[in-house]
This record gives sequence, C-alpha cells and structure tokens, in this order.
Amino acid sequence: EKGGYDHFMLKEIYEQPSVIKDTYRGRLHANKGIIQMAGVEDNLEKFTNARRILIVACGTSWHAGLVAEYIIEEFARISVEVEYASEFRYRNPIINSDDVVIAISQSGETADTLAAIKLAKEKGAFVFGVCNVVGSSISRETHAGAYTHAGPEIGVASTKAFTTQITVLTMIALRLAKAKGTMSNSDYQRYLLELELIPEKVEEALLSNDVAKTIAGIYKGAPNCLYLGRGYNFPVALEGALKLKEISYIHAEGYPAAEMKHGPIALIDEHMPVVVIAPKQNHYDKVVSNIQEIKARSGKIIAVVTKGDTQVRALADHVIEVPDTSEALTPLLTTIPLQLLSYHIAVMRECNVDQPRNLAKSVTVE
Ligand code: F6R
Repeated sequence: EKGGYDHFMLKEIYEQPSVIKDTYRGRLHANKGIIQMAGVEDNLEKFTNARRILIVACGTSWHAGLVAEYIIEEFARISVEVEYASEFRYRNPIINSDDVVIAISQSGETADTLAAIKLAKEKGAFVFGVCNVVGSSISRETHAGAYTHAGPEIGVASTKAFTTQITVLTMIALRLAKAKGTMSNSDYQRYLLELELIPEKVEEALLSNDVAKTIAGIYKGAPNCLYLGRGYNFPVALEGALKLKEISYIHAEGYPAAEMKHGPIALIDEHMPVVVIAPKQNHYDKVVSNIQEIKARSGKIIAVVTKGDTQVRALADHVIEVPDTSEALTPLLTTIPLQLLSYHIAVMRECNVDQPRNLAKSVTVE
C-alpha cells in the first residue's frame, strides 16, 4: 500500500508530479489560453466584484493561503487577507456581503475552519472551498469550490495537499486576472505554459533527494533550525519549519528573511543551521546579503537555489538546486527539497514519520 516506499509521507512526496497534473487536468488548457473551473466560472462575477478575498485555514493549508495572497494580489489585484480560522471565528470579524471567503482544507473536516465558514455565511459572504476529500463537511458547507484531486493523503504531515492547493489557487488567480484584465496577455500565456511544465520540474526537484539525505545526516542532531525566505517564498519558509518540527521534533522557526535583524539574528552561532530559500528571481540580491549576515556570525547555510546558481553557492555551506520557473510558481518547486530534508532527518532520528506524536490527520475538535 506504500507502493514500495518506507513511509506514506515519502510516497506522497513522490506522487506530487502526477497529482499536480491531476489537479490541473481538464482545467488548464495552456495552448488554448484557457483556465476553466466550474466552481469559479459559475460564480465569476462574485469573484471579480469582490471588494476583497478572505482566506481562512489552519496549519499547512494556512501556508498555502499565504502563497495565494501573494499570487492573487499580484495577478488579479484583489486585496487578500489570510487568517487562522481559529482566530477569525472568535474575534467578531468584519465580513461584508461583497467579500469572498476562500476556505482551504485538505481533510475538509477541520473544526475551526468549518466554524469560520458558518460564520462567514451568516454574515452574507460567498464562501468557496478548496478541499481534497470529496464530500467532506467543508466541501458540503461551502457555496462552491474546487477539489485538489491529490488523492488520499495518509501521512499526517501534509505534502501533496499543499502543492495541489497552491496549484488550484494559482489557477483561480490566473482566471481572475484574465477576467479583470489585470495581467498582460503575454504574461498570462507564459504563466499557463509554465504551470503546465511544473509536474516535470517537480520531478526534477525530487532528484535533490540524495543531497537532502546527505545534509540531513549532518544536521540531524541540531536542537534548532531557522528557515528564511522572502516574497512568494516567505510562506515556504514557514512550511519548511512546520514540516521539520512536526515530524522530527526539532524546534524550527520560519521568518521573512528581512525580519532576521529584528531579533532572530541573536540566535545565530556556529551551531545554528539556517535554511535559506534563494531562487534567482525573488529579491535575490537581498537574500544574498541576508546570507552574508548569517555567515558573518558563523551560522551554517543550507540554501535552496535555482539550477546553475553560482553566487549563493559560493557563500553557502550546502546548496540544493531546483529548476528555474516563473517567480510566482517557485513555491511549487522550492517546497520539495524542504519536504525531503524533514523526512530524512525524522527517519534518522527514528521518529514515527507518518504518525508523529500528539498529532491527528483531521483536527475535528477545536
Ligand atoms: C501539517 C498539517 C496540519 C494541517 C492542518 C489543517 O502538516 O497537516 O497543519 O495542515 O491541521 O488541516 P486541513 O487542511 O485538513 O484543514
């Protein structure tokens, strides 16, 4: 049932090229310049007239929401706010009838997310679900939605659900950009073609497995780890840190790289591994100077870079390469080596990778 893999988590990491394809199959027609998702088409005016989009979710799904915030604001020029469902539901939030609420949930059963949806509906908002489990409570409670088609995710640590959520949300952003005329035709076309290439690029990113395993062997005993990224890859830093802490029980924190100097830099010494997500587009020069700041304090740098990178390679202790792609799509690739790194560290620490202590796959209690 694990398809020859030692753990469901590893199987699910390796399924990502094919499930991302399943997610866009029948929806993305790059050569025709078309994105078609029934739940979006049927409600297109609600989206295009939305004064803002509120995204509610928990955990890894909340991280996918943060990536979507960057993408939707950039592509469709609609203001986006991302909230933890648990905070949203208890703080008497301002919700207007011209708000669109997007709820993201792999299981479709998360209690706090479900409660946030009910509250948004009471206040008259249109609620759209991005779920993986077909027929789940959240998919039934929302007005419309789009499934991720990732297939069953058994490992408690979410992997393929995250990348397929980002795939769905990116398609929504592109569809809205087209409807609103907020993106040039050439950029739109380029993004569609790039999105279609993502599965094979994820396949290539998975070739980092051996390097990730080697790095895992070096840092498996670390008590702490920092993850830094900027722009589209700031949420990837948060997700990388969450993966490490939940399965390996190593304390890890994700930060926007520029926030380092506002506190966390005090933690840096020769024992602190710092994972820096540094693909060549995303504020590359700024990330390079962040790396220099860490090296000046003897921190150990593990950098995720674009294939062929030389500048970061010269500074970092270790590099992991991912293929080049358009800036907004880099999270789909930079996430992959971070999943592998956490996986190998957890295995080496003899942790129960698929069922970490204290965690459940569906959090149906608040
Ligand atoms: C992390 C993880 C959790 C879930 C969170 C939300 O790997 O699995 O953080 O992402 O409990 O779950 P869903 O997406 O089912 O609402």
